[in-house]
Amino acid sequence: MTRFGVLSCTALAVSGVLCACNARPGASDEAITIGFLVKQPEELWFQNEWRFAQQCADHYGFNLIKMGVEDGEKALNAIDVLGAKGARGFVICTPDVRLGPAIMARAKSYAMKVFTVDDQFVGADGAFMEVPYMGLSAREIGRNVGRALYEEFERRAWPVAETGACAITFDELNTVKERTDGSTEALIEAGFPADQIHRGAEKTLDVPGALDAAHIVLTQHPDIKRWLVFSVNDEGVLGALRAIEGRGFHADSVIGIGIGAGTGLAEFDKPTRTGYFATCMISPLRHGYEATEMLYRWIAEGLEPPMDTRTAGVLATRENYKEVVEKLGLADVLLR
Ligand code: GLA
Repeated sequence: MTRFGVLSCTALAVSGVLCACNARPGASDEAITIGFLVKQPEELWFQNEWRFAQQCADHYGFNLIKMGVEDGEKALNAIDVLGAKGARGFVICTPDVRLGPAIMARAKSYAMKVFTVDDQFVGADGAFMEVPYMGLSAREIGRNVGRALYEEFERRAWPVAETGACAITFDELNTVKERTDGSTEALIEAGFPADQIHRGAEKTLDVPGALDAAHIVLTQHPDIKRWLVFSVNDEGVLGALRAIEGRGFHADSVIGIGIGAGTGLAEFDKPTRTGYFATCMISPLRHGYEATEMLYRWIAEGLEPPMDTRTAGVLATRENYKEVVEKLGLADVLLR
């Protein structure tokens, strides 16, 4: 088990199908069942959302069914599985925001309520759909990252002419585009030259996707001697750092700042400093527990959830990350 010790191995092995049914033994037939469907069940963020969703289910005494839904077919099949089990609704981070109308239609056919988390449904007209949503204050989180990058760049007194910024981004998804746009905007406002910020588009929101995107940026800019690195999540920064460090850069010539809740923290535990300088910590507790709680209370008590709930991030470095993790209530999950 990793230091995070988070996930039931079954959930990893059988993603895409019903992978972790947590129906409470002995729950009565009338017990409410709800689902929690996520686009990338292998990502720590989503595993931790599940973990906190389960805490909510245990607290209120309802059944929770967790499923990985990596594509549209799996998402629609998962809703059928939930329907067959009599589920009254589900929380979902969809694999594709444009599936929103199809997911809503399928949910309606079973009279299920839907609560979206992380990624917001987009309708046929390109506008966000009116479905309850909990997501990040993405632009502000991105701006925090950009400001912190610039501060550290200034503190080190790096020559601006020799420094480039590498942004690994995924512009098809609004909540993540907002993050890298926010970082870019804050860097430029602080005085970093816009034409020295180089964007690499990743095809997948994970370490390999970011690694490939960063290689392209690095090959296009061989003269840059120092890099500032930012992305949509920790995985994006870690992938870029792997590419950059592979080309001979190290902690003295790279400053990377992520966004996440755990994936990058192992870098802080390494005996020597790496290019992973900081991360903006976000809360899987709120996105897992609170999102599930809102859906449950909507089903059980008729209490309608707010349409749009945004959560903030807190910057953490090698020096203070344990305190930040404690304050966010994540110590049990991330510091073991
Ligand atoms: C998106 C990203 C995840 C995570 C969540 C947080 O879904 O793909 O890595 O950052 O946002 O809301």
